[in-house]
Amino acid sequence: MARKSKYAIIVAGGKGSRFNSELPKQFFPLRGKPILMYSIEAFHNCFPDINIILVISPEYNDYWYDLCVEHKFNIPVKIASSGDTRFQSVKNGLSLISDIKSLVAIHDGARPLISKKMIRDSFETAEHHGSAIPVIKMTDSIREITKDGSMAVDRNKLLAVQTPQTFDYEILKHSYDLPFKKFFTDDASVVEHAGYKIHIYEGEYQNIKITHPIDLMMAQFYLENE
Ligand code: CTP
Ligand code: MG
Repeated sequence: MARKSKYAIIVAGGKGSRFNSELPKQFFPLRGKPILMYSIEAFHNCFPDINIILVISPEYNDYWYDLCVEHKFNIPVKIASSGDTRFQSVKNGLSLISDIKSLVAIHDGARPLISKKMIRDSFETAEHHGSAIPVIKMTDSIREITKDGSMAVDRNKLLAVQTPQTFDYEILKHSYDLPFKKFFTDDASVVEHAGYKIHIYEGEYQNIKITHPIDLMMAQFYLENE
């Protein structure tokens, strides 16, 4: 069987409201280099022939171009426009793919510490099973918010979900053609809602999503000590 071609959609069109800054977090420097460049480089370095689609807000197109010049960043990417939701951003990225016999990884631009191993595992799992969702065990105790307070939940029954989430293009395209639902916070929720089975693989604790300012400091610490 011929190997399927590979795509990575890097979603970086969010506003980063929890990061509390005017400049969206994905453009922030991490040891001098914008966070987003780490995420793109990880895929390119893992599979030099991968097709990368970068989803950003058109408002930041010029800014991104300037950053690329400044950092001599010349990994080829196709740019798609982001939407108001992550769902819409992914959908816009997908619209640039015409090779229906391909595998597509979707990765949060705000996860710069993604390892080669995870990227490889993701594509291998998706090649065999049609989908690949990285999960890690929860470390904190968990409580559910209820009408009159909160209630303990069995942590062992829960998993935290990361990216890259990788799928057969046709599964992804069909799922993203269905209407948006509020509970879609990642791709697995969209694909599962469309009726497909989800296959999990092991994520990594260091693959944090830069969400709050402290996460940037943790990522910096990690890079300085790896
Ligand atoms: N994202 C996107 N388009 C959106 C919303 C989010 O491309 N409309 C991207 C973000 O840029 C990020 C990833 O999806 O790389 C995960 O989203 P999240 O961490 O929630 O980022 P933001 O939505 O930017 O942050 P916040 O929720 O704090 O506003
Ligand atoms: Mg968000």
